[in-house]
Amino acid sequence: MAVTQEMPSLLEQDRRQLHPLHHPSQTDNPLIIEHAEGVWLYTTDGRKILDSMAGLWNVNVGYGRTELAEAAYAQMQKLAYTSNFAGMTNLPASELAYKLSGYAYPSLKTTFFTSGGSESNDTAFKTARYYWKRQGQPDKVKVISRRESYHGITLATTSATSVPRYHKMFGPLVPNFVYCHAPHPYRYEGELQDGETVGAAAARDLEETILREGPETVAALIAEPVQGVGGVFVPPEDYFPRVRAICDRYDVLLIADEVICGFGRTGEMFALNRYGIEPDILAFAKGITSGYLPLGGIQISDPIFDAMNSAPQDEAWLHGFTYSGHAASCAVGLRNLAILEDEKLAERSAAMGEYLRNRLSGLREFGNVGDVRGLGLLCAVEFVKDQETREPDNDLAMSLQNAAAARGVRTRALNGSLAFSPPLVINEEEIDQVVDTIGAVLDSMSEE
Ligand SMILES: Cc1ncc(COP(=O)(O)O)c(C=O)c1O
Repeated sequence: MAVTQEMPSLLEQDRRQLHPLHHPSQTDNPLIIEHAEGVWLYTTDGRKILDSMAGLWNVNVGYGRTELAEAAYAQMQKLAYTSNFAGMTNLPASELAYKLSGYAYPSLKTTFFTSGGSESNDTAFKTARYYWKRQGQPDKVKVISRRESYHGITLATTSATSVPRYHKMFGPLVPNFVYCHAPHPYRYEGELQDGETVGAAAARDLEETILREGPETVAALIAEPVQGVGGVFVPPEDYFPRVRAICDRYDVLLIADEVICGFGRTGEMFALNRYGIEPDILAFAKGITSGYLPLGGIQISDPIFDAMNSAPQDEAWLHGFTYSGHAASCAVGLRNLAILEDEKLAERSAAMGEYLRNRLSGLREFGNVGDVRGLGLLCAVEFVKDQETREPDNDLAMSLQNAAAARGVRTRALNGSLAFSPPLVINEEEIDQVVDTIGAVLDSMSEE
């Protein structure tokens, strides 16, 4: 007998899914996005919203790119997916790995594909341990990360993530993850010795952490070049060169988590190039496909690849996902890279980022703005209760996020800061609209 069911309302229907990082009682009235174009989202109830977060920091080439839809369609008609496990490959995965060889950093020539950032970082941790076991140093298992870092949501990457609210209900954390101070110039929480820069102090804290734990137990440091979810912290220029030297001194692998920073976001195609250093492992995701299909991965240096390549069978790198090297995702990745290059979107990110920061600096006339910072189109304004104490004003940031959304601008409140990470195709007029909206909300709040 046919079962007939009345069509539920869209909202009723939506209550049958759990949304990431959301209390189910807060999904009563979600925006339902029907289509999108450039930097604009269009809802089913006729609203138009400027997405100054590019989804989740990832829609680098903007919404509605038919080239990417066509790349997926053409590939899916031929071969959407096949296993990439031993003995099989597909053309787009192989072409993309070839294209990426040495692309981000000359010394990283070998790629492994995942479906997203958490899988990439988890893979990086396993690979670091693997490498040291192959070097005859099986005790090097610990991973150091910086406070307020975000590295993903699996149990291991949650443990590397140093945001306490993500730990509270999921403990105990995986052992052997250790934290050191973040190089946050506006709010450095460690000790500053006489005449020391924040970059030098944070690097010293890393070194002291390695020595305290015992270098013979530390496998890797994982670091976002610009910390995103923590509140968009840009490190001082002298920090990463020191970090690279410390990692080399103690045989600690440097994992660059460029899940947000990669593919043009910071005004460079890959962020550590700015500091003239290369990581041993690069984790990427998000911007590789601009979110059109899920894809991520790691790239590894030659010594790590050699450790895999020379391993006896019973020490093989036994790691892989069903969707590693997904044919349609890789085809979209290739086309997305062509767009980033043809439209010079990394350069555009640098120029538009400067324009955005200049405009955001104008908000300093409001007394609660503590800091304006960013690199490329990865920026934030931090709000404080008091300029002297610099106590972050989380409530204000959250109210601004909500009021701006009601006026058609999507931003994200993070630890007292409002983050801006729009599609790299954003233009000056659209940036004006974002900043004018925040200014108007601040105006109406100060009147109240
Ligand atoms: C720096 C960083 N690493 C890792 C991740 C996790 O990526 P995913 O959500 O694709 O698993 C994120 C997500 O925002 C991120 O910002």
